[in-house]
Amino acid sequence: MNASTTNAGKKQIIGQKPTSGQLALAEMIRTGGTRSADTISTLPVSHYTCPDHFAQEKAALFDRLPQVLCASALLPEAGMAVPHDATGRPLLITRDTDGNAHVFLNVCQHRGTRLVEGGEVQCAKRLVCPYHAWTYRLDGKLLALPRPETFPGLDKSEHGLVELPSHESGGLIWFAPEESADFSDAAKIGEDMSAFGADNHVLFRRKLHMVKGNWKLIMDAFLESYHVTRLHANTIGPFFKDGVTSGDTVGPHHRSAVGRLEEMESIDLTDMHQLRSVITFAYQLLPATVIVPSPDYINVMVLMPQAHDLTLVEDFMLIPEEPKTDKARDHWERSWNLLDGGVFASEDFRAAELGQQGLESGAIEHLTLGTLESGIAHFSETVAQALRAAQ
Ligand SMILES: [Fe+2]
Repeated sequence: MNASTTNAGKKQIIGQKPTSGQLALAEMIRTGGTRSADTISTLPVSHYTCPDHFAQEKAALFDRLPQVLCASALLPEAGMAVPHDATGRPLLITRDTDGNAHVFLNVCQHRGTRLVEGGEVQCAKRLVCPYHAWTYRLDGKLLALPRPETFPGLDKSEHGLVELPSHESGGLIWFAPEESADFSDAAKIGEDMSAFGADNHVLFRRKLHMVKGNWKLIMDAFLESYHVTRLHANTIGPFFKDGVTSGDTVGPHHRSAVGRLEEMESIDLTDMHQLRSVITFAYQLLPATVIVPSPDYINVMVLMPQAHDLTLVEDFMLIPEEPKTDKARDHWERSWNLLDGGVFASEDFRAAELGQQGLESGAIEHLTLGTLESGIAHFSETVAQALRAAQ
């Protein structure tokens, strides 16, 4: 997002076109195709319960791969900064005066002091270290320090903040812990998000959830639709027809769709607004981000594992424009409560916690996946590939 798109006003999603990949998934549903496997498969319980296995995943995935950090809408304007600690690194996300996003280590280059305290978004033209007032621009450059004559020979250009590779497109800010990061697949995901209008969405709410379960148990809840009419029977279940799904991959990232086949007859699938009224897409991004675009808003969930059995999940709800009336605010409030509190926290995250409790008991040695749950097996294979690639 740059300053011009930030201030360009909030475009309506009506008239917007799906990407060719999104359209292909919709066509697959219309023709009755699903991506069911033919046979059952299994996964070892140790992948969810073994601390050593988790340590390997952390090193191969979370300490290495490009990953979504937050929604662009967290920093909607130029001249904003927000500390971010939940990945285990002291990160600082900024949007500089030109509108470009950056991800830095939140550490002053003088004596290593944490630069910005707390965890709230700040509007600031510059960042001042609380200790000795070394002052940085939002693009990371060291702007000034008090009593500069007491640092003879100090080259300010060599004392900018440490920046990590980052990428912004389609309303998402990604970062990578390693310098050699390749964001080309992130850019493709960005194209899909742009087709949902996500570039111009605003942040309605965000919430950090602590889930006492392995991060993959949470991913698994968004990789199959077998549970949707059952676990979600009292919330969103009635909106879905059991088992009409399709899915594919974008690089290492998974993309799926669930459709209401009986309502698709008179729908123009090339119109994104109509498409979203009958098809619900979901994105399961490596390593651990879930995106659920509902018909008129988008939830982005960033999973940040803390241990093999503990995961922080930050849920961002993005809406097309700022609510202008109390009625509009109430509408989004109900949507937020339904999805974040009802469907995710009380149902999907609860199922992940129940899964962790059961798996830790040793009662079973492997999980059994039916043909409607092949998305879990596919994602597991994607994770296994990333583990092998890191060796
Ligand atoms: Fe679910």
